[in-house]
Amino acid sequence: MSNEKLTLEDVRDQAKVKLKGICGVYKICDGDPSRLCQRHSYGGPLGIGGIGSGASFTNNVLALKKIKLKMRLVGETFEPDTSYSFFGNELSMPIMAASTAGVTSFGGDGVITEEEFCKAVVLGCKDAGTIGWRGHSWNYSLETPHGLNAINDANGFGVKICKPIEQEKIIQYYKKAEEIGAIAVGVDIDGAGSVAMPKNGKPVYRKSPEDIRDLVKATSLPVIIKGVMTVEDAQIAMNAGAAAIVVSNHGGRVLDFTPGTADVLPKIADAVKGKIKIIVDGGVRTGYDVLKMLALGAESVLIGRDIIRAAVGAGKLGVKLQMEHLMITLKKAMLMTNCKNLKEITSEVMET
Ligand SMILES: Cc1cc2nc3c(=O)[nH]c(=O)nc-3n(C[C@H](O)[C@H](O)[C@H](O)COP(=O)(O)O)c2cc1C
Repeated sequence: MSNEKLTLEDVRDQAKVKLKGICGVYKICDGDPSRLCQRHSYGGPLGIGGIGSGASFTNNVLALKKIKLKMRLVGETFEPDTSYSFFGNELSMPIMAASTAGVTSFGGDGVITEEEFCKAVVLGCKDAGTIGWRGHSWNYSLETPHGLNAINDANGFGVKICKPIEQEKIIQYYKKAEEIGAIAVGVDIDGAGSVAMPKNGKPVYRKSPEDIRDLVKATSLPVIIKGVMTVEDAQIAMNAGAAAIVVSNHGGRVLDFTPGTADVLPKIADAVKGKIKIIVDGGVRTGYDVLKMLALGAESVLIGRDIIRAAVGAGKLGVKLQMEHLMITLKKAMLMTNCKNLKEITSEVMET
């Protein structure tokens, strides 16, 4: 099929074939125990699923699903403006690709290499006018920094999130990120319980407030703390000088039985909004979900599994199509709830 004719449906069909046995590419991706990916509860690999029972993964989806939107239709017609400024970069939408890594563990291996996967995400996002964040896995090193290589290919248009490894190593990654002109760096503090990293000789650690402060001091780039689920951790990150937090439970992959991110976001926003950038992820599949997250207090969102599937299914074009679909549905959601721009998305759009 020629690239111009490829649709998002084709991308998903291709992903289904390529991720056979790993991900069913279901219409509803929610970590239900009946799903192909959800084998962790039986001692199977985590793959692309959620940890343990899958409750945290499911809670992300349910927390969003229970929010209802108000139709506010009387008034003039307008073209919703989804433009968003992220650390001085003008983006087409407040939606970015989440930091993800590890094609060997989520089934892309043999179909796409880690390096190709990273490039598909970063370059596909760039083509859609937004940013691809990159993650970290046990087979990354300073000599083979797959995520940073992709960001370099995009002339620095990317964000690098390190696992909570030794401080000196994180700082070395940050220095490389500075050299290639990356937009920001960070650490997923919720990676502290990783099994795969230590098993492969890369120990991970809980990070103290001082550790976070030292990371902030060590780089000229904005530092993002990803994996914040409580007001306390948000305040610690803010007081340590972080530039942003990501309200995230890692897509429900790090601790069983957490609330959904949309459940905790309002409390965190009440405490720190306006003092630090608030980004959120977990279960966001459409622009309607994006609108809900923004109404709950985030300024932008990250997309995990849908971007993984798009990248494995059809490389950077798949990623671009997925991002464009999100933007179209966000615009529809904004039009129907009477939000001309992102500032107008407030709790008023939600039915209480
Ligand atoms: C297969 C897979 C690999 C991931 N790898 C990373 C990673 O390396 N670093 C990171 O910060 N988060 C990682 N995440 C978490 C995502 O950044 C994000 O928080 C999560 O996928 C959002 O939920 P969603 O998949 O429901 O959109 C990973 C998620 C998945 C599904």
